[in-house]
Amino acid sequence: MRPLIPIITTLISAVATSPIETRQESSYVGYLVSTFSDALPQVHFYLSNSNSPTSFSYSNGGKPVLASTVGTGGVRDIFLTTNTARSEYYLLGTDLDINVSGFSWDKATRQGSRGIVVWKSTDLVEWSSPSLQTIEADTAGMAWAPSAVWDDATSQYYVFWSSRLYSASDAEHTGTASLDRIRYATTRDFATFSAPQDYVAEPDTPLIDQEFLRTGVDSFTRFLKNETVNQVYQENTTGGLFGSWTRVPGYLRPESPLEGPAAFADNVTPGLYHVWLDDYTQYVPFEASNLENPSWSASSTSGFPLGLKHGSVTPLTQKEYDAIAAAYPA
Ligand SMILES: *[C@@H]1O[C@H](CO)[C@@H](O)[C@H](O)[C@H]1NC(C)=O
Ligand SMILES: *[C@@H]1O[C@H](CO)[C@@H](O)[C@H](O)[C@H]1NC(C)=O
Ligand SMILES: *[C@@H]1O[C@H](CO)[C@@H](O)[C@H](O)[C@H]1NC(C)=O
Repeated sequence: MRPLIPIITTLISAVATSPIETRQESSYVGYLVSTFSDALPQVHFYLSNSNSPTSFSYSNGGKPVLASTVGTGGVRDIFLTTNTARSEYYLLGTDLDINVSGFSWDKATRQGSRGIVVWKSTDLVEWSSPSLQTIEADTAGMAWAPSAVWDDATSQYYVFWSSRLYSASDAEHTGTASLDRIRYATTRDFATFSAPQDYVAEPDTPLIDQEFLRTGVDSFTRFLKNETVNQVYQENTTGGLFGSWTRVPGYLRPESPLEGPAAFADNVTPGLYHVWLDDYTQYVPFEASNLENPSWSASSTSGFPLGLKHGSVTPLTQKEYDAIAAAYPA
């Protein structure tokens, strides 16, 4: 049998470098979690232990890597986005400090921040100063839980967030607002944005916390929180961001209140997807191997950190993984 070994090795290496191999299988060696904590509403990084989707170490010696010095000074709901070339990265966050004196959720949704906090980098290590980018109209009460999708066809980002809107005649926003809905704008640089528009607005359901999973050029799954029941549901499309969407019946995990989905494809196993849901204290990880007819089951929590809040999970190339490990050691 011994002579066979070199042949098998040759076959394996041929498979590993085959051009038909997907990005999902080949180029990503780990994951970066970008998140915040209630105690410290700043940007925190966690780096995966090798290529595990559930085992992470707290980067930067367990300290935040970036703090907001703009707007309210607090930053929550962290989202990291990049383009196809991975030539630039943006960290986005909700501009909200729930610990300031006189804070109330009512005030934060009537006269809340209409901006998101933005940092830019070209290497995930050196970051710009934070800037507050006003993305919402005067009629909006707030701009919460940003996420973004890069669009190759138009070389721009679609940015999404949640807001509620007041009548134009109600300048102080003291009246009754619309239901929360998902809004969007486009941008090339997170410095100038198109005018905000509705993306998903339901007549009977307040919506928040949208996140996408791209499964093909024009195929997406998206996760949204129904705020009436505090549950996350899933929809899919093959027609691009503005195609027609089909609801996957029910909710991901209807047993208890959950929010703030973070969704990502597994780097190793084709067709395996992960969704983390915030149980209002911390993230709980779930996974499914069939996105079309999914059964979201609890993932292993061995090595899964406590206290992770609404954030995002980004697959990393070797260069990216090594840069973060070196700049922000655990
Ligand atoms: C901020 O408020 C949250 C929610 O009440 C609390 O869990 C957290 O400990 C507070 N953080 C600080 C720094 O006071
Ligand atoms: C949200 O939940 C409420 C209460 O069950 C339900 O009436 C409504 O249709 C749901 N909306 C969506 C979009 O799931
Ligand atoms: C979208 O979801 C529906 C409902 O679960 C399913 O029947 C359909 O096959 C899915 N389509 C795609 C393209 O994922």
